[in-house]
Amino acid sequence: MVEQFLSGKVAIVTGANTGIGKAIAEELAKRGAKVVVNYRSHPERTDEMISAIKAAGGEAMGAQADVTHLDQLQAVVDQAVSSYGRLDIMVNNAGLETRTSVLDTSPEDYDRVLDVNLKSAFFGTQFAAKQMIKQGGGGRIINISSVHEDWPMPNNTAYCLSKGGVRMLTRTAGVELAPHGITMVNIGPGAVDTPINASYAGNKTLLDKLDAAIPLGRMAEPQEIASVAAFVASDGASYITATSIFADGGIMQSSPGL
Ligand code: NAI
Ligand code: BGC
Repeated sequence: MVEQFLSGKVAIVTGANTGIGKAIAEELAKRGAKVVVNYRSHPERTDEMISAIKAAGGEAMGAQADVTHLDQLQAVVDQAVSSYGRLDIMVNNAGLETRTSVLDTSPEDYDRVLDVNLKSAFFGTQFAAKQMIKQGGGGRIINISSVHEDWPMPNNTAYCLSKGGVRMLTRTAGVELAPHGITMVNIGPGAVDTPINASYAGNKTLLDKLDAAIPLGRMAEPQEIASVAAFVASDGASYITATSIFADGGIMQSSPGL
């Protein structure tokens, strides 16, 4: 029997029908939360996920929205409240990268990366916090950041910039929201086996190079990030706020041992 320590809670996960977001939505539901699965495209994947969650005895619903359109993002929060009555856990997970350097990033790429990764987390935080304050009793805001909130990834400059912004969003807004009983935590994954890293999965030379750079010797499975999110959402994490937790297999401390 799985311990349902999120029973009675309502959660939103953005960008949640693939990769890390999907694993988080499934884990929160397994732990008893009612989950709103935000997705931008592929409703059929969302339907499949929701059927599986319900078949396992959980509760979830889909909410289509492009989170860079703030009216659509607000509508996701409104749907959570109209369907499930409240909002306790907001997971800002949607993200993308262009893998371009400062020299070859176009203004369009820059805006896309910053809008999805940072602007949606900023306003996802604002909209969720306003609802949490209105209903009372606090809440949890979790941002899926990256090791690259702090650690350069050359040739992925705008992405690093966006995650650096999420780092300061959590530190600053976390302080602002603390008096309301709302905690705010970044989870910073290292390399995780999801569609964002498809270029490694299909290329043994690249994958071997990546694995060699990770002290634990392998990419994470999405579930290994989802379990951290479930902990951060739980009562056991009540004193963690305005900071980051890294789940990176040691990659940020990797050293050739000179
Ligand atoms: P993914 O590509 O499977 O997931 C990203 C999700 O965001 C997709 O479902 C996509 O549709 C959604 N999304 C993108 N733009 C959106 C928009 N405008 N509106 C709504 N949804 C949108 O990749 P993954 O790895 O699961 O990424 C999830 C988060 O984890 C991202 O924020 C990423 O930066 C972060 N991350 C991933 C790591 C990895 O190695 N896979 C490592 C560190 C952080
Ligand atoms: C990036 C991936 C990268 C991983 C580890 C993530 O934030 O999206 O492209 O493999 O960090 O460096």
